[in-house]
Amino acid sequence: MLRLIRQSVTKRYIQQWEKHLKGFSTVAQAEPQKPDIKTSVPGPKTTALLKELSSLQQAGSVQLFADYDKCIGNYFVDADGNTFLDSFTQISSVPVGYNHPALLAAFEDKHSLRALVNRPALGVFPAVDWPQKLRSVLMSVAPRGLDAVSTMMCGSCSNENAYKNVFMWYRLKERGGKLDFTPEEMASCMVNQPPGSPNLSILSFKGSFHGRTFGALSTTRSKPIHKLDCPSFDWPVAPFPRYKYPLNQFKSENHAEDNKCLEQVADAIEKYKTKGRPVAGVIVEPIQSEGGDYEASPYFFQELQKLCQNSGAALIIDEVQTGCGPTGKMWCYEHFELPAPPDVLTFSKKMLTGGFYFKLAERPSHPYRVFNTWMGDPGKLILLEKVLQVIKNENLLALVNETGKVLKDGLHKLESEFPQVIDSVRGRGTFLAFNATDTKCRDKIVADLKTNGVLGGACGETSVRLRPALVFAPKHAAIYLDILRKTLREI
Ligand SMILES: Cc1ncc(COP(=O)(O)O)c(C=O)c1O
Repeated sequence: MLRLIRQSVTKRYIQQWEKHLKGFSTVAQAEPQKPDIKTSVPGPKTTALLKELSSLQQAGSVQLFADYDKCIGNYFVDADGNTFLDSFTQISSVPVGYNHPALLAAFEDKHSLRALVNRPALGVFPAVDWPQKLRSVLMSVAPRGLDAVSTMMCGSCSNENAYKNVFMWYRLKERGGKLDFTPEEMASCMVNQPPGSPNLSILSFKGSFHGRTFGALSTTRSKPIHKLDCPSFDWPVAPFPRYKYPLNQFKSENHAEDNKCLEQVADAIEKYKTKGRPVAGVIVEPIQSEGGDYEASPYFFQELQKLCQNSGAALIIDEVQTGCGPTGKMWCYEHFELPAPPDVLTFSKKMLTGGFYFKLAERPSHPYRVFNTWMGDPGKLILLEKVLQVIKNENLLALVNETGKVLKDGLHKLESEFPQVIDSVRGRGTFLAFNATDTKCRDKIVADLKTNGVLGGACGETSVRLRPALVFAPKHAAIYLDILRKTLREI
């Protein structure tokens, strides 16, 4: 009976959304109906390619080789012709599915093609339409109150350069707004000593991931493998909430958890001030992703912002993974109803270009201080412009919320059907996750999902994360849930 009700609800959703998508999304119409696995996974061609690649580099992270001519919408096609429903989308970085026609058309006009071919040193020779492009594309989705933007190459370098920006802003405040540097500062920075290279710090959270370049890596706290053998800064760390689920049954415990973590943030800020290494910035993911999809309440973020304001540190929100719509809002921090905007917001992945938003008043005092040769790529902004149009024209934030509801309800049903295998369903929009009993079980779920036709992602010790494209509709959710049920039954 339950099964019949479930099937009819799912069918109703699918019909509703197919009606919605008709005439809108060419991708939705061109997609296959379902996954199609023709060989063992990995198949023979993939195995041969992996052998070849391994003879050139460390290729242990490679899962599959894609046939990008054949990938379409929510479906990934591998070298062996296997078609997978993609719920992980290249570590959450494909905004509107594979080969979206609007993106394929982006370089048909010669002006855009020339922007791709003539890649500029953006900080020195930007194109005549660059300021207008920044305004009409990136600033059109800027967090309220942040009136400046700097483009960068990737998530790590967005955070890395955001930290530099914050340190320069902090030191400018300490100098009382004086723009000149002392001879002592100029001499000491050349031997990596204060006062020119000051003992300032960035606080980050246990379980956080902010990237792999040196500054960013010092704030990454998810897994030892990312950090081993690399020198790091002595910067403070504080715990990030670890909630009990379901949230509505553990309200007071989770609130106490928020307060415990906030107290430790305050303690760490105080300790590092006393130690002569004050906290200039606090970086936080709205949902800790790579570390295990841990979420925190609006209350936690509001109080964290107060702690930053009271100590004079900048609040840096890392939306590299959460940004551009997957939580049902353009930026995940919008769910937190902060009374004031964050000081800095960093982005990459689904935004296709890296970068960070900040306040113009906080820009570096001199040129070439937050700078590199490319500082991003105008070609990526041309694609982002199309992505933002598709999000608007296809009403994709509404779709994310609708699909998210179907997925989350379905996952809750599965956790009650298989309580010995999965629990702690959580997240916002389609940015969802659940836990398996242990790492071995989690790894088996992800591996079996793949052989059953679904690409999925792992994070933290025991979590499975969902990171579909924004065009993942209820009909894809139904396929995902059916295959997950089959997979869990077989475990
Ligand atoms: C929250 C967050 N910040 C930063 C990064 C680093 O981005 P990139 O891999 O582009 O350097 C990632 C990558 O997964 C991320 O999830």
